[in-house]
This record gives sequence, C-alpha cells and structure tokens, in this order.
Amino acid sequence: MLKDARELSGYSDRIRKDFCFSSRENVDMTATVINGRMIAASIRSEVAAEVHILLDNGYPKPGLATVLVGENPASKVHVQAKHRACQEVGIESFGYELPATASQQEVEALVKRLNEDPRVHGILVQMPLPSGIDEERVLNGIRVEKDVDGFHPLNIGRLAQKGREPLFVPCTPAGVMYLLRHAIGDLQGKRAVVIGRSNIVGMPLALMLLRANVTVTVCHSYTRRLEEHTRMADVLVSAMGKPAAVRGDWIKPGAVVIDVGFSRVEDLSQKRGYRLVGDVAFEEVARVAGYITPVPGGVGPMTIAMLLKNTVRAAKILGHNGE
Ligand code: GUN
Repeated sequence: MLKDARELSGYSDRIRKDFCFSSRENVDMTATVINGRMIAASIRSEVAAEVHILLDNGYPKPGLATVLVGENPASKVHVQAKHRACQEVGIESFGYELPATASQQEVEALVKRLNEDPRVHGILVQMPLPSGIDEERVLNGIRVEKDVDGFHPLNIGRLAQKGREPLFVPCTPAGVMYLLRHAIGDLQGKRAVVIGRSNIVGMPLALMLLRANVTVTVCHSYTRRLEEHTRMADVLVSAMGKPAAVRGDWIKPGAVVIDVGFSRVEDLSQKRGYRLVGDVAFEEVARVAGYITPVPGGVGPMTIAMLLKNTVRAAKILGHNGE
C-alpha cells in the first residue's frame, strides 16, 4: 500500500505531506521527499522579479563572472548550469576560462581585473583549482563586496563570530539551510550531524547551524563509529562524496536527511555511461527518515538559486554605478 518515496517526488507539497503524514501513522514509515528542483524554481522566479525592480530603479543589470581554470568535466557542467540560470533570471554572466597550465599570477590578475569591472557584481572562481594554484591567495584577492561564493576569509570569519554579519554566505550550505527551514521550520535546539568538513560545505554549514541555535556535531574521515553519531541526529547532512554510504539503520526515525553527495558511478545502461548518486542509500533511508532530499534534484539546484540571490545582493551593495 505504501509507495516508495521516490514516487512521491512529483506530488505537490501539500499532497505529499498529507500522504506521508498519514503513512506515518502506519508502522512502515515513508519520508517526504524535499523537491529541491521545485523550491529552487520558485526562488529563481523571486530573483527574476527582484532583477526587474532593480532595473526599474535605475540599477545596472546584475552581472556574474565565473572563472574556470583547467578541464575538470564536473566543474564545466556546474559552471554551464550557473550561466544558464543567470540568463533565465536576467543576470548578465561573463565566463572566463584559463588552461590548467595557467600561473598563479594569471589567475590573480584575472580576479583583479574583475574586481575593477563595473559590469561584474559577483565573482565566482570554480573549485577545485588545479593543484599548482594557491586557492587561499586567489580567494583573498576577490573584492569582499563581490564575493558571491562567501569564501573570502572576511566573510567566513564573520560567519564564525557571534554578533558579526557576513556580506555573503556560501551557496550550498545556504541552500541546505533553506531546505531545512522549508521542511521543519525553526531549527532551534535540534541535534544536527554534518558529515564532511570541507571549506565549501561542511565547515560553513556547521557555522550556519550554530547560528540557528542547533547543537552541531561535525564528523569527518577520522570519526570513529560514524553511525553512533548519525543515529542521534534530528538533522543529518551528508557531504562526504561516498555513493550510498549512509544506510537506513544509521537514521533516527523521523529525521531530516539532506544529501549533498554528488558522485558519478559507472552505468552502461545510461547514454552518458554514468549516473549521479548521492551519499545516501535513498530507498533504505526513506523508510526511516521523516524528510529526505533526492540526488539529483535536491541540494544541487538550491546551490545555484542561492548564487543568484547573492549576485542580486552584490548588485544592491555595489549600487547604481557598480562601484
Ligand atoms: N565547487 C563545488 N561547489 C562550489 C561552489 O559552491 N562554488 C565554487 N566556486 N566552486 C564550487
């Protein structure tokens, strides 16, 4: 009688919630699937409306510059998706590509040029950078008012400190926070476990959860008996990049499970030869969790939606002449 959670992903929010709440009264629990694609689409239409208002008020068109260094195929796909999204909401986008052999000086010189370009309100240097490039020096060089990724040490530093306000916060963790609030509202007092401590996701997400008065445990590659931590979590966010590593018996019944994993696994039945999978063993976990995000269609689209929001924010901060 109960449907697999994946079948529910096309249902409207209301219907899915009703279905799942009633299914919870039965013993066999099925999670509500959080449809990141749908939520991100509604944020994109809000951003498009904001862009209209800016233009009506004499602001220049918001502009995002992306910097892609090297040939990482996944990075190329991500950057292309960012440009498409910009176009859809009326943000101008400028794509810069440097070869993997580019020098530190060349990357820094490009960032400096973009800092000074009045058409560019946001600068995104796609990570990871090739191994010869010092990421920290590149990020330090981004003008803090154009740091739409929120990776500049000043923005991260402010995020880490009580009573300080960053100009921008990193996009993927911001998307995760948005989904969590969408699913369960106030997070205060909840126990969260974050798997992964990267500069892009795990670390800033832990800081954002702390600011929301959540009790946070950050697990990483040295954590022993990971599942003993995850079983305590009201909110579990996995960002470790290990396909289907999070199992059903790791989950506290009713927990919110957010899957940031995004790995390619070989699948010769697919035209492109691979499929995208998250960190979470979806079917298994959906039988225990209260809410779950799918991969693809969960966190991914939210990252881009938050980037668009940050770019409009940057255009507002920089003002009428982009300076
Ligand atoms: N690589 C993976 N995620 C991100 C992101 O959010 N921003 C940038 N710049 N690079 C990434």
